[in-house]
Amino acid sequence: MLFSSPISLLEIFVFAFPAISQAASAASQVSFDQFLATVTAADFQRWQHTAVNSESSFSQMKAHILDMYSGVGSVSHSFVLDDRYFDCIDKEKQPSLGGRPLASPPSAESDEPPSQPGGPTEPKTSTTSPLTQNLKDSFGNFISCPDGTIPFARLTLEKITAYPTLAGFFAKSTNGAGHASSSRGLEELQDRGPSAEPHLYAFSYQQVTNYGGHSFLNLWDPVGDFSLSQQWYVGGSGSNIQTVEGGWIVYPQHFSKRPVLFIFWTPDDYSTGCYNLECKGFVQINNNWTLGAPFTQFSVAGGTQRGFDLQWKLFQNNWWLYLRNTNASYDTIGYYPTSLYNGGQLTKNAEVIEYGGEVTRFTTTDVWPQMGSGMFPSKGYSQAAYQNTIYYNPNNQSGGVGVWASLFKDVIGSNACWDINITESAQGGGWGTYFFFGGPGGKTC
Ligand SMILES: *[C@@H]1O[C@H](CO)[C@@H](O)[C@H](O)[C@H]1NC(C)=O
Ligand SMILES: *[C@@H]1O[C@H](CO)[C@@H](O)[C@H](O)[C@H]1NC(C)=O
Ligand SMILES: *[C@@H]1O[C@H](CO)[C@@H](O)[C@H](O)[C@H]1NC(C)=O
Ligand SMILES: *[C@@H]1O[C@H](CO)[C@@H](O)[C@H](O)[C@H]1NC(C)=O
Repeated sequence: MLFSSPISLLEIFVFAFPAISQAASAASQVSFDQFLATVTAADFQRWQHTAVNSESSFSQMKAHILDMYSGVGSVSHSFVLDDRYFDCIDKEKQPSLGGRPLASPPSAESDEPPSQPGGPTEPKTSTTSPLTQNLKDSFGNFISCPDGTIPFARLTLEKITAYPTLAGFFAKSTNGAGHASSSRGLEELQDRGPSAEPHLYAFSYQQVTNYGGHSFLNLWDPVGDFSLSQQWYVGGSGSNIQTVEGGWIVYPQHFSKRPVLFIFWTPDDYSTGCYNLECKGFVQINNNWTLGAPFTQFSVAGGTQRGFDLQWKLFQNNWWLYLRNTNASYDTIGYYPTSLYNGGQLTKNAEVIEYGGEVTRFTTTDVWPQMGSGMFPSKGYSQAAYQNTIYYNPNNQSGGVGVWASLFKDVIGSNACWDINITESAQGGGWGTYFFFGGPGGKTC
């Protein structure tokens, strides 16, 4: 059983188990210690009405949560954003580190964009991270984390039992559908389990040796089960496909009805890997940004266009993530150690860059989501969604200068639902290489 939104799930728990509800809309705040005590005491009887498919799956979910939190120590500050709890945990004790020391970021920042003959550029306004806006939640807690800690989206049984298994919770999709490729046709994408619908795309790609890359992602809040705009850095082939990914996603069952910042990785063509900090993988060092937290400011049709710069860079055995508000300097968010990739291609470099939109739906009766802003690329600036200043990083040195991407387009699904229109850097003016993408989705895609 799949819930179409976290609200329905929360409502069911509030109704059925008021005493153990973790819903943030409950009258009193659930402290980190109370939360952990509840998980420790949880038994299958109380959770069998969720989507979880068996007692052993439930045990794995519970064990995962307790394992993730086993070394984090005490938590002195928590806050609620969009009905979800976030705990500020000691940076040095985060689950992904497992006691190892933090890596030092490259001395120079992320790579600079290639030089580009000027030309007028449309204005772009950043979307500010909710953590740097001086906001308070409904309990009066500041929506921010003190220095030395990182914001960690509380990993609850409510969240994980919305899926039949722990692996289902981690997965971006089943059967390797989390990234599109020109060699992976629609037939292959549809060849999957009985309930899973295919992932469909309007995207762009280039085969080139790279150490990450950059784009500015224009931010919208489309409606649907699962709709995103992102970057992929991909290496390997077959069951050894490995990725580093990031962007924004609307995915109510997992995160929020509003777009959230996300990252994802897989070392084995989507058999394992996970989003954000939901399994041991990404090491976060920055307290300005929250993975999995909804943005509060979006683009407006015909009005202000918002978004953020995102960059991945492989440097000294770590894939570093950078984010930036317009006109600010980059924040270094953290890294995936290449040890996660088991000696595979992404321990050396990526072989393909991809940028674009991806959607799926969870039942055959749901409509296909909007992609981007819900408008076709032909509507252009301030109506259609875009990514611009798209370049890849050609070396693994600190600093450095990117190379404009030279992209091919691919649309998987019906052109009546979404499309992508790429402009190469030679014609791109101050935007460099860019594209508009998206569309309304619909019943038949
Ligand atoms: C960014 O800088 C440009 C040029 O200095 C300015 O016009 C624009 O308003 C700034 N944008 C923001 C969001 O501060
Ligand atoms: C860059 O890549 C080369 C070749 O794979 C490797 O020998 C070198 O150690 C890497 N340098 C850094 C800074 O990661
Ligand atoms: C957070 O953002 C502020 C304001 O932009 C900046 O001064 C500070 O260095 C950032 N902190 C980190 C850890 O990046
Ligand atoms: C694609 O984008 C270019 C540049 O913005 C524009 O001139 C062209 O009309 C667009 N084509 C379509 C089919 O939307």
